[in-house]
Amino acid sequence: MSPFLKSFLSGRRVFGAYLRYHSSLTAELIENMDKKATWDRFYTETSSGKAPFKNFEWFFGFDSVRDFIMPLLQTMSRPDAALHVVDMGCGTSALGPSIYRHSPVSVHVTCADISPIAVKLMQEHIQAKAIQPHSCSSQIEFVELDCTQLDKRFSPSTVDLIIDKGTTDALLRSREGKQNASLVLKQCLRVLRSSGSLLQFSDEDPDSRLIWLETAAQDPGVMTADVGVQEVGELRGIHYYCYQVTPHPVL
Ligand SMILES: C[S@@+](CC[C@H](N)C(=O)[O-])C[C@H]1O[C@@H](n2cnc3c(N)ncnc32)[C@H](O)[C@@H]1O
Repeated sequence: MSPFLKSFLSGRRVFGAYLRYHSSLTAELIENMDKKATWDRFYTETSSGKAPFKNFEWFFGFDSVRDFIMPLLQTMSRPDAALHVVDMGCGTSALGPSIYRHSPVSVHVTCADISPIAVKLMQEHIQAKAIQPHSCSSQIEFVELDCTQLDKRFSPSTVDLIIDKGTTDALLRSREGKQNASLVLKQCLRVLRSSGSLLQFSDEDPDSRLIWLETAAQDPGVMTADVGVQEVGELRGIHYYCYQVTPHPVL
């Protein structure tokens, strides 16, 4: 079993028990976290029943990462326009709505996921909750989008911040997802402004992730990127990191 899924199962007593019971879903997740059908099934099965909707965090929530995100938004802020933030592979996480709610800087948050089930759950939830943003000009939207095709939705150099909490991990740890993980990274670099950044939150060790990022972010003659890492902290014995990737066009 991948450490990613193991950490998820051990850290989430309720969902861990649920997934152990639904062992065929567990087996599907282990190898096919790059597949839309896997996630449609995951969000359908974990949201069915009479319990009211609850945001689901694959690992930690907004409070654990706000200090990586909010100061960055402050440094990027422009007086004339909202910052464009994308939560890539948002699932039913509260991360995007929390940025919308708490950012003093005006933001346009796009929460994007390949699963229309997750997107619909979030749209219904946000409508029911009617969250008021800190900045009255902030906006939020939920869209079904395959992040290997970010450029179908966003023009080049238009996005300020892309947040990826567990999405690249899911691709890299799938049987057939590694190529898509590289493609997603290149797409991020394409749609990010030169002043923008991609933040990947992950439990992957820097020894492996930094080498992968530094290699996959190169597009000889076109694009390169600066890559850095900070530790986010430890949660139930697992270390998490924030990888920051900044595009660096080749002149
Ligand atoms: C490990 S979950 C993380 C979800 C959420 N970010 C969180 O922290 O709870 C990975 C998410 O990526 C989404 N996903 C997988 N492949 C994708 C793709 N190609 N494009 C967009 N979303 C994708 C899945 O539907 C799933 O919601």
